[in-house]
Amino acid sequence: MLCLGIESTAHTFGVGIADEKGKVFSNVRSVYKPKIGGIHPTEAQAHHLEKACETISIACEQAKIKISDIDIFSFSAGPGIPKCLRVGAVACRMLSQKFSKPIIPVNHCIAHIEIGKISTGLADPVTLYVSGGNTQILAFAEGRYRVFGETQDIGVGNLLDQFGRTAGLPFPGGPEIERLALQGKKFIELPYVVKGMDVSFSGILTDCERKLKTEKLEDLCFSLQENVFAMLVETTERAMAHTEKNECLLTGGVAANKRLAEMLKIMCEERGAKFAVVPREYSGDCGAMIAWVGILEFLTQKKSDDFSARKNPSRIFITGKKYSLEQTKINRFWRSDDVEISWL
Ligand code: ATP
Ligand code: FE2
Repeated sequence: MLCLGIESTAHTFGVGIADEKGKVFSNVRSVYKPKIGGIHPTEAQAHHLEKACETISIACEQAKIKISDIDIFSFSAGPGIPKCLRVGAVACRMLSQKFSKPIIPVNHCIAHIEIGKISTGLADPVTLYVSGGNTQILAFAEGRYRVFGETQDIGVGNLLDQFGRTAGLPFPGGPEIERLALQGKKFIELPYVVKGMDVSFSGILTDCERKLKTEKLEDLCFSLQENVFAMLVETTERAMAHTEKNECLLTGGVAANKRLAEMLKIMCEERGAKFAVVPREYSGDCGAMIAWVGILEFLTQKKSDDFSARKNPSRIFITGKKYSLEQTKINRFWRSDDVEISWL
């Protein structure tokens, strides 16, 4: 069984093809890069519209399959930027209808967790999901991925990107800050904002931007990383103690950061827990993670399908499977803990 997944929540238009064993046959990305500043929704949408067909074709070519061989189509339905989300949703609906195949809307955050699990072999981890828009500590309990801690304002990736922009670094700032931090020598005191299992970054951003006038950029990058990563390690450790889970997964775009991975690894070693980080090719937004969750969901939805179809026979099914067109609406604020996980 093959699923083609489309990712378009923000800067990346990604298309991946995966099978029911989690084998990924292709994972192609086209990334919108703003000329100045952060993501401009209309420009990002224009980029995705321009690149959609080409990216889908390349993904099929690389997987050495015809698009008519695909059994299921899935797409990121949220959370994300509505203008971007719509491009993936429309492309997916068209493919699903043209080839009369099921369509599965996928939660982007859940996809970051599941691609992390299948690619690392972790079974039941506490997950630190860190990206541009999101920072959450999640663990599975009673049918859902529960959020044990999260940012109260911006995502840690946004903190890095915004600080990078103020400092005149190219977008995205995360990788540049990681590079410069290696040359930093002096630790500069910054606010350390942990509230229970939640964290907050906007005050740190303001303080760091202000200190650009008086401190060396390399030292600030070093201190910023040490400070905010310590906050994330502390809260992740607390969630592990609370849930009594002995696995920890690092996933999302910021998982590419070697220092963050190193700090979490030390914490896990001290607890005797397993630690794994999502491989680089799957850490950022990508179609493969959406394809994989499309498969997981499809393979475990049949029962509820039949039940809901009996309850409401007037629903327009595209293929006789679960989701009607009406149910493939995007949801810009779709929270990970709103998703009932049928496959666990
Ligand atoms: P989401 O919708 O999940 O919030 P996103 O739109 O932020 O996703 P991702 O590709 O998941 O997209 O993450 C991008 C973020 O990852 C950016 O903020 C970028 O700076 C950050 N990032 C990438 N590489 C590194 C790195 N080496 N160190 C720190 N941050 C990084
Ligand atoms: Fe993401």
